[in-house]
Amino acid sequence: MNEALRFATNCIHAGQTPDPTTGAIMTPVYMTSTFVQASPGVFKDGYDYARSKNPTRAALEANLAALEGAAHGFAFSSGLAAMDCILHQFRTGDHVVLSDDVYGGSFRQLDKVFRHLAIETTRVDMTNLGHVERAMRPTTRAVWLETPSNPMLKVIDIAGVRRIADDWAKKATPSGGVRAAALGPLGEAIDAPILVVDSTFASPCLQNPLSQGAHVVLHSCTKYIGGHSDLVAGALMTSDSGLAARIKFVQNAVGAVPGAMDCFLMLRSTKTLHVRMQRHCENAMQIAQWLERHMKVERVIYPGLPSHPQHDLAKRQMRAFGGMISVVIRGGLEPSRAMLERVKLFSLAESLGGVESLIEHPAIMTHSSIPPDARAALGIADGLVRLSVGIEDVADLIADLDQALR
Ligand SMILES: Cc1ncc(COP(=O)(O)O)c(C=O)c1O
Repeated sequence: MNEALRFATNCIHAGQTPDPTTGAIMTPVYMTSTFVQASPGVFKDGYDYARSKNPTRAALEANLAALEGAAHGFAFSSGLAAMDCILHQFRTGDHVVLSDDVYGGSFRQLDKVFRHLAIETTRVDMTNLGHVERAMRPTTRAVWLETPSNPMLKVIDIAGVRRIADDWAKKATPSGGVRAAALGPLGEAIDAPILVVDSTFASPCLQNPLSQGAHVVLHSCTKYIGGHSDLVAGALMTSDSGLAARIKFVQNAVGAVPGAMDCFLMLRSTKTLHVRMQRHCENAMQIAQWLERHMKVERVIYPGLPSHPQHDLAKRQMRAFGGMISVVIRGGLEPSRAMLERVKLFSLAESLGGVESLIEHPAIMTHSSIPPDARAALGIADGLVRLSVGIEDVADLIADLDQALR
């Protein structure tokens, strides 16, 4: 990041200079798959083939790196493609400690797609650091957490988890580097736990996990970074040059990169990230406070409320509390279903982080793949409803929720 410039300025300018050929102020959409070479192997600035490098993507990656205060940024075709890039770094027998309510799709990838690698996993409630400490093993190669989490909005102490990972780095069992030149940067095994923070719910505007000890930050850019519910994309940011080389290698070798148009849309979106996030947070705080007083509501979960179990940690770790609220409606499934059918302004849909407000029922929608007893253990009750508060006028949003609850 340009340390001299503040976040809002970096949102608009980082990674972007006027187009050198025309002076166009906006980064052009470089719709090209290849680049002409002057002589075999002689090409400009690393541009030989667009899977490896594309100028629109390069501008986006520099912009995203700046927003996370990272030395390196990498864009992917989805949040799960970004996760896939990290999981390719591990070997058979490696162990990963996961936060318990990690996004279902993330768990499915580790559990099903990478099953052949027999990566061992332990899921724990990381709001208690003692659980993380007890889950660690000499073979642990990653601690993977989401904060705030989905849908219970748990806030996890990133710096505290990093201290535990560092203690265990000394006890790590070497997993046997392949050291084959043909494997490129992947030839060396990862021999100590890395801390991966999925910061999708916060966006780079509300917290920067690298500054608190994360080795890698992951975003589903489909959410706040894209911000307009019109694209699917992901990103990884790191300041560790060894990890960056490994990520770059897999990004190119596997090839799950976003197209130039999606990169352009993200660059356009990050220009307003700071103002969008400010309104998301203001609206969500007002709605959370209003819901907490509502007689049809049993419980409101929002990190900005003093009633949230990690409210003090959220105040230390985050700049503001985000646009996501989870709420338990009194009476369980039927009253919550009725409410979801009656909303008019909130759209009943999965996903989150767009300018328009969305509402969903985790037990039936986003988290239905989790067995009922496991859902109950996580606190995903049948009356739980998740709101992604948009940037509409908050009075209209409250009026809509009020009529739906009544
Ligand atoms: C916290 C979190 N991480 C990762 C993902 C996966 O991102 P994508 O849908 O862009 O692949 C999601 C998707 O909902 C998510 O909520």
